Amino acid sequence: MKQGDLVYSGKAKSLYRTGTEGELLVLFRDDITAFDGGKKDVLTEKGSLNARVSACLFSLLEEHRIRTHFIRSLDDSSMLVRELQMIPIEVIIRNIAAGSMVRNYPIREGTLLDPPVIVIDYKDDSRHDPMLNDDLVLALKIVSKDELLRIKDLALSVNIVLSRFFEARGIILVDFKLEFGRYNGELLVGDEISMDSMRLWDMKTKGSLDKDVYRFEKGDVLAVYRQVTEKVLKR
Ligand code: ATP
Ligand code: TYD
Repeated sequence: MKQGDLVYSGKAKSLYRTGTEGELLVLFRDDITAFDGGKKDVLTEKGSLNARVSACLFSLLEEHRIRTHFIRSLDDSSMLVRELQMIPIEVIIRNIAAGSMVRNYPIREGTLLDPPVIVIDYKDDSRHDPMLNDDLVLALKIVSKDELLRIKDLALSVNIVLSRFFEARGIILVDFKLEFGRYNGELLVGDEISMDSMRLWDMKTKGSLDKDVYRFEKGDVLAVYRQVTEKVLKR
């Protein structure tokens, strides 16, 4: 597999051409950032931990007939994916109140959200990813009404599969972020599903097993990422 021209380099991943039309190589770098890029570091091995977890979770979704961009892993830090026309939204699914939900609204951290809460942010760093509602999504013509319903439906299906998977491993899926893109008229789950994009709590201690360890300097982030990776890869 040839690593061709660089298409895009974001805060944590780089996308490359591969020589095959419609396919991209995604390289998970060791960069870690938080607070809109205000805090950043390079942590050796972090990229490969997130890449391996993402590959495993995308495969799990595919096994449950949820279509994703994932084709196959290329090595520990990179994967081959279908090139999507990305939809500029971040779809956040919350099972337990935490993070910005607790900062912005009168709800206690740890409150069970049943049914889960779906929040959609507009993906635009220069505007600090403002929150949207359904009317805004449609007014901005980001997706059609049907696509919005389909996106929410897919997000809830992903939530069921991932929540069960983590529960069986002694981990609570508190919340997570998905990105979607179009591929030949079909909506696919894209980007990554990793410790950077999920909030995970140890079922017994309620301790953080995700990027919050880095955000709030709660301990050894690499050790925590390794611990989650080991549990996920056991399948
Ligand atoms: P953020 O961290 O806010 O998501 P970023 O652009 O810095 O933004 P990275 O993860 O570093 O994030 O970059 C990956 C980029 O690749 C994202 O913009 C994402 O939307 C895009 N992307 C993910 N999967 C695909 C795909 N299959 N086809 C095309 N683009 C993709
Ligand atoms: P949220 O609580 O809104 O933000 P923060 O973690 O910054 O307080 O995040 C909810 C979940 O979505 C959490 O698991 C992290 C993930 N997420 C991302 O991966 N990228 C993002 O840009 C945002 C806003 C959230």
